[in-house]
Amino acid sequence: MSHSRGELLAFPEGFVWGVATAAYQIEGAHDEDGRGPSIWDTFCRQPGKIENGDTGDVAADHYHRWPEDVRIMAELGLQAYRFSISWPRILPEGKGKVNPAGLDFYSRLVDALLAHDIQPFVTLYHWDLPQALQDQGGWANRDTARYFAEYAHLVARRLGDRVTRWITHNEPLVVVAAGHLQGIHAPGIRDPMVAFRVAHHLLLSHGYAVEAIRDEVPASQIGITLNLTPIHPASESEADQQAARRLDGLTNRMFLDPVLKGRYPEDVMDMLGPLFPPTEPDEMSRIAAPLDFLGVNYYTRAVIRHDPNSPLFQIGWVQPQGSEYSEMWEIYPPGIYEILTRVWTDYGQGPDAPLRALYITENGIPVPDMPDAEGKVHDPRRIRYLRDHLVQVHRAIAEGVPVRGYFVWSLLDNFEWAYGYRMRFGLVYVDYQTQTRTVKDSGRWYAEVIQENGVRREE
Ligand code: FCB
Repeated sequence: MSHSRGELLAFPEGFVWGVATAAYQIEGAHDEDGRGPSIWDTFCRQPGKIENGDTGDVAADHYHRWPEDVRIMAELGLQAYRFSISWPRILPEGKGKVNPAGLDFYSRLVDALLAHDIQPFVTLYHWDLPQALQDQGGWANRDTARYFAEYAHLVARRLGDRVTRWITHNEPLVVVAAGHLQGIHAPGIRDPMVAFRVAHHLLLSHGYAVEAIRDEVPASQIGITLNLTPIHPASESEADQQAARRLDGLTNRMFLDPVLKGRYPEDVMDMLGPLFPPTEPDEMSRIAAPLDFLGVNYYTRAVIRHDPNSPLFQIGWVQPQGSEYSEMWEIYPPGIYEILTRVWTDYGQGPDAPLRALYITENGIPVPDMPDAEGKVHDPRRIRYLRDHLVQVHRAIAEGVPVRGYFVWSLLDNFEWAYGYRMRFGLVYVDYQTQTRTVKDSGRWYAEVIQENGVRREE
């Protein structure tokens, strides 16, 4: 059927097609085989924090069903799988005593992936800090960065004979903003003084982890995943443009600059003043440890106006008229092209440029999917979303941006943080009553994309 669907936009040879997940969102088995509690276990138990009172206790039961999940990936022809390691499965207290069963679980998963020619991309931190470390201040405590290094060493030592692609952190911005400013994610803190310390310590821990992984696995390719958002002013007015620039500083450059240039953006530091903790020069060079790639998660753009009534930074969000929206965000495919070309222009130019390659480590859309009478799940909206974004990724590559791979969020429907199970992002439908998996139309469509190593433009 693909042949009737118009021109094929071919991707470069060797382009990597994958899917992404995260431990807390799919694994379940929250108290099995020696896993310690994470801050998400605690947060989910606080009334009113998660829609419907949902928790990740069972999630998609991947901890038990991983052989089936790997089989599905193999059937779809996936070439790579980005998953995260649950820190409290490895170190139930966050540091010190190791839980061998935790390491064994990921070791078996890696073996199964490799047996199917699926390349593992391992994320070390996708938001599930051991609760024991939160009890000592969590990421606001500088020591947590050292414990992260200890954990990185352990995992790299155990998996590094087979895993060569590593991602230290997933979206540190969300940990800072949702976890420590707005309090809508674990650990549920709302304190700017804490939030910006957390930002610095997360970045410091990234630097330590890069060192730890290189040390254990010299042949590694190491990156960090940032959620990057194109930010557009709501009008031409100077005030709106400046508000957009402030948000760009606080969300995009705040992480890109230290990681790739070894310094925080000056305009942001001026804005934050005493809210930002003092930093040491050796910390900054550590944070800027050379990277092999940058992971970019892209979902939407932001349209911003100056809002004098908005606390802290006078930034207001505008919902553009006439746009299409998913259950969570505006759908804006050109934004993925814009952000890719922008980071490449700003960080990838020149002989000593710090940025060498990029991956789209997440892109996807929530759709209220339902099986039909025959048990099939038709999700044309997701197919359209993914196709429209891939067309834009292709355009960026054609203009010279070295995007090496693309990961759909997500393989399975899963626990979508504060939204609980209402948001379904999977290429594979999960019936949470029976844990039955059903490949959606989008999953079959993606299998074709992979097979053709390209995407067909809509006619
Ligand atoms: C990203 C997260 C991922 C998932 C998607 C929808 O911010 O990294 O875990 O929740 O959003």
